[in-house]
Amino acid sequence: MSNANEKRQAGEAAIRYVEDGSIVGVGTGSTVAFFIEALADLRHRIQGAVSSSEQSTAHLTRLGIPVLDLNAAGPLSLYIDGADECDPHKRLIKGGGAALTREKIVAAAARKFVCIIDSSKQVDLLGAFPLPIEVIPMARSLVAREIVKLGGQPVWRDGVVTDNGNWIIDVHGWRIADPVALESELNQLAGVVTVGLFARRPADVVLLGDREI
Ligand code: A5P
Repeated sequence: MSNANEKRQAGEAAIRYVEDGSIVGVGTGSTVAFFIEALADLRHRIQGAVSSSEQSTAHLTRLGIPVLDLNAAGPLSLYIDGADECDPHKRLIKGGGAALTREKIVAAAARKFVCIIDSSKQVDLLGAFPLPIEVIPMARSLVAREIVKLGGQPVWRDGVVTDNGNWIIDVHGWRIADPVALESELNQLAGVVTVGLFARRPADVVLLGDREI
């Protein structure tokens, strides 16, 4: 079960990585919401944030934190985000909130990715949490058939449209022994926009509550 107290601790602890005058990459979700609340106290000491979702953009804007375009911001020193699962190698499953594509983009643009989690997210092997995959709508069935061939059970997240106008397939039944290989393989499928595995670019730091693990 998720632990709101640990999420709050992690969100607040992540503030120590924020440098004066910087532009901060900001993820999405309930743990990040605690980080955004804490970041608001520093808003006069940073240039602003690059956001990974409409949800986080609304939260940042409401608290008076300037939201900047990634193309204008350039490389970022820091990205803060949550995860749905985290293995001992800091490899992640993300996308439970359907924001995986922009999250992966902002993570890729950042020198340091600090992942903030509660203990319910810690796993030895990724895959108990269904793996989200963002797909171009017309490719939904095609991608689903390919996933079945790879031994997964695809379930369309019916009714959910991503910030990019795409759809989400959640893959059940995979115990992911080699997340780097699976991420690469799924990335090759026509119609796949983003795979919710963050294994080729794992987190650099994981904060479980206020503790670095
Ligand atoms: C959003 O698409 C996800 O990647 C989130 O980062 C993830 O679901 C973590 O969410 P919580 O912090 O709400 O648990």
